[in-house]
Amino acid sequence: MMFFVDTADIKQIEELIPTGFVNGVTTNPSLIAKQGNDLSDTIKSICSIVRGPVSAEVTATDHPAMLEEGKYLASLADNVIVKVPCTVDGLKTCKILRQKFFIGVNVTLCFSAAQALLAAKAEAKYISPFVGRLDDIGEKGMSLIEDIVTIYKNYGFKTEVLAASIRTTQHVIDAALIGAHVVTVPPKVIYELYNHELTDKGLKAFLDDWAKTDQSILPK
Ligand code: E4P
Repeated sequence: MMFFVDTADIKQIEELIPTGFVNGVTTNPSLIAKQGNDLSDTIKSICSIVRGPVSAEVTATDHPAMLEEGKYLASLADNVIVKVPCTVDGLKTCKILRQKFFIGVNVTLCFSAAQALLAAKAEAKYISPFVGRLDDIGEKGMSLIEDIVTIYKNYGFKTEVLAASIRTTQHVIDAALIGAHVVTVPPKVIYELYNHELTDKGLKAFLDDWAKTDQSILPK
């Protein structure tokens, strides 16, 4: 399973690189706006520190303008993946970016299996179903991940399922159990994945006992 970080905060990405858990990055217009920095500079900087795929999203809503924005975003760095919304124009753009320009596309804002099926037919590299936002409206976001993984397996679609809008460590575990190819996780949740009460308790007990021995591992 690949771990992407869901942020446009370069400092947070830099801090996470040494963990070895940053296989890629996803951004969106809201995350870029939150940082208040220039989009092109931000994407170039992220791409210079992360080798894996970095998703950058178009903001145009009509196909010709999406196509131009997609080509521009892809020109910023070799590892840019263009993100388009799951709309008629977005999927038209996806197909052309892929077939004519060989650019990888992440189809975002996916809330149904039908949309995911269309994205696969449009040859998206990734489909991003938003788990947390479905949970927010009382639906089971994870059931959508399960349905899409099944449908893609049924037909051997190459589009990868990128579980997005991840809010909890349980979301990450459930996506892994289902077999999602990728999970994009906010930095806060990545750090939460390390935690277990018994790890803290056990470590404290080990260190307390060790202190009683008056030894040090490295020769004094
Ligand atoms: C995915 O690529 C999106 O950036 C993201 O996961 C959205 O998450 P949110 O619902 O927490 O905003």
